[in-house]
Amino acid sequence: MQPAARIYVAGHRGLVGSAIVRRLQALGYGKLILRTRAELDLTDARATQAFFDAERPEYVFLAAAKVGGIVANSSLPAEFIHDNLAIQTHVIHSAWRSGVRRLLFLGSSCIYPRLAPQPLRECDLLTGPLEPTNRPYALAKIAGIEMCWSYNRQYGTKYLAAMPTNLYGPGDNYHPTHSHVIPALLRKFHEAKLRGQDTVFVWGTGTPRREFMYSDDMADACVFLMRLPDEGFDSLLGSDESVSGRFEPPLVNIGTGQDVTIAELAALIASVVGYAGRIEYDPSKPDGTPRKLLDVGRLAAAGWQAQTALADGLRSAYVEFAAGAD
Ligand SMILES: NC(=O)c1ccc[n+]([C@@H]2O[C@H](COP(=O)([O-])OP(=O)(O)OC[C@H]3O[C@@H](n4cnc5c(N)ncnc54)[C@H](OP(=O)(O)O)[C@@H]3O)[C@@H](O)[C@H]2O)c1
Repeated sequence: MQPAARIYVAGHRGLVGSAIVRRLQALGYGKLILRTRAELDLTDARATQAFFDAERPEYVFLAAAKVGGIVANSSLPAEFIHDNLAIQTHVIHSAWRSGVRRLLFLGSSCIYPRLAPQPLRECDLLTGPLEPTNRPYALAKIAGIEMCWSYNRQYGTKYLAAMPTNLYGPGDNYHPTHSHVIPALLRKFHEAKLRGQDTVFVWGTGTPRREFMYSDDMADACVFLMRLPDEGFDSLLGSDESVSGRFEPPLVNIGTGQDVTIAELAALIASVVGYAGRIEYDPSKPDGTPRKLLDVGRLAAAGWQAQTALADGLRSAYVEFAAGAD
């Protein structure tokens, strides 16, 4: 991916898309093609094709999607499966028609079976039932992986699917009920501190284990993958199962390889925010999957590892949140 390459970042204002834009600009990439949702609604097939025909990007980072936490997924299942299937189908198909050289499709670690052995390996895909609370979203992402694989097999495209773990960082969504666990807890402890509240209730039992990665690390991993020389990139595209007999989708996990319990996370966020009150748990709220830790061996073998420790990332995220909140 040469510095003068024409690069489309779909979803450039989101948590991941904005971090990818920061990373590409820092590396001197000057021909970024960016459109807000108002300028280009990717659920509109005709508009998406017209955009690709006009702009002819060479590389695509597909970071546009309908994303949210447990409440959003359980209350808006139709939107999660429709919007994600529509966005990824239109972008992947238009990319093929306009001759895109490489495309990185972003999924999520919820694609793996609820009770698969930990850590989760790429080959565990489609080996068991999914977590019901976000199955519509997960199935859309699995369809996206299969679409990349199918286009690679039929048309010889170079489309890779990357499965990030839970992400957090600058520009995250702090919506009180629709956000992910880290922005939800940062906001909850911050408001409790300001109000002088003596107890904060955290959803669930506090026992589930989760892996978290800072969004700038995620962006660095995405750009690292797209800048790999042909041999390295092609080796991640898996194989044609009908020829190799092996189940090797074009899939790579992106994570830190370390996890914490929700209780440990809550205690860490309380100390980052400076909240000194009590933390109580509300077991009437859903815990979700008991554990979700990614095996990041494939990415490490390609030469990449996460740099930001959880405590440091949380501090940076809180500084940005607090600056906007007050
Ligand atoms: N956040 C996580 O913890 C996490 C974890 C694993 C995987 N991922 C994956 O990473 C990718 C990016 O997620 P994120 O956290 O960056 O999400 P996000 O912050 O919600 O950003 C999503 C972006 O997509 C855009 N978008 C949504 N619908 C669109 C449409 N119809 N047309 C055009 N643009 C549209 C949004 O535009 P607006 O700015 O106009 O809303 C937003 O900029 C997703 O594929 C997600 O599955 C995220």
